[in-house]
Amino acid sequence: AIDVVAIRELAARFEHTPGGLLPALHAVQDRYGHIPRDAVPAIAEVFNLSRAEVHGVVTYYHHFRSEPAARHVVQVCRAEACQSMGGNALMAHARLRLGCAADGHHGRSADGRVTLEPVFCLGLCASSPAMSIDGELHARMTPARFDALLAETVA
Ligand code: FES
Repeated sequence: AIDVVAIRELAARFEHTPGGLLPALHAVQDRYGHIPRDAVPAIAEVFNLSRAEVHGVVTYYHHFRSEPAARHVVQVCRAEACQSMGGNALMAHARLRLGCAADGHHGRSADGRVTLEPVFCLGLCASSPAMSIDGELHARMTPARFDALLAETVA
C-alpha cells in the first residue's frame, strides 16, 4: 500500500501554485515511478478536483504512467520530425514485436518485461526516427535495427 499521507504532503507543496496539479503529478511520479491509483483521491482532494478530473489529466499526458514501468522501457518518438520519417511505422512495429495492445499510450510487452511509451522529441530530429531503450538514445531507426537492439538489450 502507498503512503497516502506522504502523497498528500507532496501534492500540497503545489497547492497554491497556479496550475499546480501538473508539477504535483510530476513530483509523485518522480518519487514512485508512476501515479499510484490510490494517490489519485488524495491529489484530487488537495486541488479540490474530482477523481475523474485528476485521472483524466494522468491519462491525457503521455508522460504519466498509471502503473509501474517494466524492467525495460522503450520510448519511441511521436513528434513531428520523427513522424515524417517513419515514426508511425516504427511504433507499429514495436507494438507488434513486443505484443503490446494496439491502443492506449502505454503498453506492456506480452511477456511483461518491457514498457513501450511514446515520447515527444528526444532531440534527435535531424536523424529521425528516434527512440530510446532504457534511457539510451538511438537515431535513424528502422524495424530491423529495432529488432537487433531489442535482442541485445532485453535478451
Ligand atoms: Fe523525434 Fe525530435 S521529433 S527526436
